[in-house]
Amino acid sequence: MVERAPVARSFPLVDDAPVPICGTDGDLRYEAAEKAGLSAQDDHSHPGHEGAHAHGTQLMEKPRHYRIGRADIEARAAQMERVLNKVKEETLRPDSRKVAPRFNLNLTAEILGLSKSQFLHRVNDGKFVGGDRTGSRTLYTLEEVRTMANQVGLRHPFAPGHGIVMTVANFKGGVAKTSTSVTLAQYMAARGYNCLIIDLDPQASATTLFGISPYLDVSQEESVFALYDDEPNFDRICRSTYWPGIDLIAANQHLYGREFALAGAAKDWGGEIFEYLAQKLPALRKRYDLIFIDTQPSLGFLTSTGIFASDHLLVTVPPSSLDFASSVIFWSLLRDVLTQARDAGGHSKFWEGVHVLQTRVDEQDKSTHFIRKLLAAGCEDWLLPDPIPATRVATNAASDFQTVYDVEKYEGSHRSIKRAREAFDKAYAQLHDAVHHTWDVWQNPTEWDVVYHPEADLFDQEADASVSQDAESDRGEAGAEIRERVA
Ligand SMILES: Nc1ncnc2c1ncn2[C@@H]1O[C@H](COP(=O)(O)OP(=O)(O)O)[C@@H](O)[C@H]1O
Ligand SMILES: [Mg+2]
Repeated sequence: MVERAPVARSFPLVDDAPVPICGTDGDLRYEAAEKAGLSAQDDHSHPGHEGAHAHGTQLMEKPRHYRIGRADIEARAAQMERVLNKVKEETLRPDSRKVAPRFNLNLTAEILGLSKSQFLHRVNDGKFVGGDRTGSRTLYTLEEVRTMANQVGLRHPFAPGHGIVMTVANFKGGVAKTSTSVTLAQYMAARGYNCLIIDLDPQASATTLFGISPYLDVSQEESVFALYDDEPNFDRICRSTYWPGIDLIAANQHLYGREFALAGAAKDWGGEIFEYLAQKLPALRKRYDLIFIDTQPSLGFLTSTGIFASDHLLVTVPPSSLDFASSVIFWSLLRDVLTQARDAGGHSKFWEGVHVLQTRVDEQDKSTHFIRKLLAAGCEDWLLPDPIPATRVATNAASDFQTVYDVEKYEGSHRSIKRAREAFDKAYAQLHDAVHHTWDVWQNPTEWDVVYHPEADLFDQEADASVSQDAESDRGEAGAEIRERVA
């Protein structure tokens, strides 16, 4: 008898229910034959396994070549999920749950926009209470900082009940969409705003960054999947997080189902399918001041509903020339989606602001300045002046599922964490101004027509008659929409 190599094996990381990783639909058929009480010799459905050992063992002849089919992918998917679950269980053990950082006196004063002496003055007057004193150091909790932020009036008075939706998007992956959504929400929440993050990416990176396992902790009914229900149960799907002032609508892979469902429903719904998510948001705008939507790197129906639901669109731009070149497609695809929506009978879409943010920027890199020039030529009025630098602090933090704002004690130099935070703060201060401006405008809608400049106006000389006409009717529609919103 010829010796045959045993090939059935399981990953040592997973103790229970090992899945044979010997591959091929044929192997699984072989197993099925075994379970059914057939020996492999009897199972002639797969020519590669004739003559394999079959006496109560699952050892098989190693095929010289096998083709990979659905069952293999299914087995691998299950296996990979188990492997990942194991890792997540380790990383996100109950005793290692994320906790919000505390802030020292300088950082607290900085967040509140006060000088150290102004801050201390208020402490001495008894206006600011709290703080945990150990030796010469005072640490404030995030709740305390949020209370002080409200005391000094950082939060716009028109914010409560008039939530602004900001969607972070780009056709490209790895351009810090998720990092930006999360850190921006952290920045705003520390300044007293009540924020919600909607994780609209089936890869669930934002969910994971909050220490929530999309595999273990998120059921379909408690996820963003259910936000697309006819009558979403907001109490069930909006979960609080370790960061006071941030709630999350978590994602997991079930969300893919919505992509297909939306595509299927598009024929019956016409252009209004794009407004599907926007229709769910009025209730959430009443609960939250700021709603951030983190999207996946594609412009399918799901992302489009996220973009149509937004008042502000934030496009994060990658640093390298090649990535930049491919991300330029985003704008033409977005134009196509907007046209498609309008032609299919939907409403025209308007934003209170569109912002282009350079992320992961390395000032030493030659292409950085080149890309900035291109962006300035293409959309200077949307380009935020201060980019987010690539920083080791962010990279190191990410390996522990953290952001630059999560880090309370940095292992590297104190200066690097300070520099990193200041750079993020500077970039986000611009977005803070932008949403403040929107609340100003919503609060005084009569000023609104003056403030609004449709794009077509800016390029009037080049615009042909039909574009001008479009702009004219858009202006009317947009005016009606905003009056309705703030009525
Ligand atoms: N400012 C930064 N400096 C260094 N690394 C960053 C920075 N911002 C994001 N990253 C890293 O870049 C990678 C992609 O970021 P992510 O936010 O997941 O992008 P996207 O959501 O667009 O796919 C992550 O590993 C993240 O930790
Ligand atoms: Mg992402």
